[in-house]
Amino acid sequence: MISVKDKVVIVTGAASGLGEADARMLAAEAATVIMTDINTDAGERIAKEIGATFFEQDVSSESRWAELMRLVENDFGRLDGLVNNAGIAVIADIESTTTEQWRRTMSIHLDGTFWGCQSAIELMKKSDGGSIINMSSTAALVGIPAYLAYSAAKGGIRAMTKSIAVHCKQQKLGIRCNSIHPGSISTPMVHTAVKTLAGIDMTALPDVEQGRKDMGIGEPDDIAHMVTYLISDASKHVNGTEMVIDNADTVV
Ligand SMILES: NC(=O)c1ccc[n+]([C@@H]2O[C@H](COP(=O)([O-])OP(=O)(O)OC[C@H]3O[C@@H](n4cnc5c(N)ncnc54)[C@H](O)[C@@H]3O)[C@@H](O)[C@H]2O)c1
Repeated sequence: MISVKDKVVIVTGAASGLGEADARMLAAEAATVIMTDINTDAGERIAKEIGATFFEQDVSSESRWAELMRLVENDFGRLDGLVNNAGIAVIADIESTTTEQWRRTMSIHLDGTFWGCQSAIELMKKSDGGSIINMSSTAALVGIPAYLAYSAAKGGIRAMTKSIAVHCKQQKLGIRCNSIHPGSISTPMVHTAVKTLAGIDMTALPDVEQGRKDMGIGEPDDIAHMVTYLISDASKHVNGTEMVIDNADTVV
């Protein structure tokens, strides 16, 4: 049975898009959710609405990860799940990406995921193990010219995930680590991309639902269902794998 009842789960980047959908679904399924984000206003509002805890966090700050884990240990006594979801998507190809864009992308996606996994494992070792989910992308699997730094970072997250999964299994830590690879899902990040790259304002379409279907774009809950499954014990034999959720967009 898929149950996340009473599991203590951190979701980063939870004030918008996929992270918000994850937090909402986990809370609705009776998990104890700690939402983090740099967007305090939206984060606090959503947390209040769903009965979650909000913690302001820039995932690219190492010290903030330590503070978050201290709070979780003090207030909840354990950690069962971490969803490393926070991210940015700079639209720039190999010829136009600046060093500043490259470094910012790496610090949020790679440093943030690294510190998140490292600090979560420390606390999960004192709990009964746990489940870590790293949000990658189909950009880690196929060439997307407009997302140079993003693709490189997401590819790094994919490989980091597998390394962590094997380590935790070898060390018998009872901690699983998997990556999720969404295709295009309707969130503010993708609305910006569709506007920039195709000149279409999705939010102004007369029938957003139909527009989404016409463009082959999924919904945040398509990802939240997978997150809920991977946090639950129903996925206890699922480890080190890459869950592609793109309705066959990148199947070759
Ligand atoms: N939407 C998609 O189609 C899609 C596809 C593949 C992968 N992803 C990945 O899913 C994740 C969520 O994307 P989304 O579409 O929901 O985007 P979004 O822009 O709607 O939400 C991203 C959230 O991350 C937060 N954030 C940004 N920088 C942060 C930082 N330094 N520290 C903490 N929080 C920060 C933002 O404030 C925002 O709330 C990202 O990692 C993204 O790369 C999304």
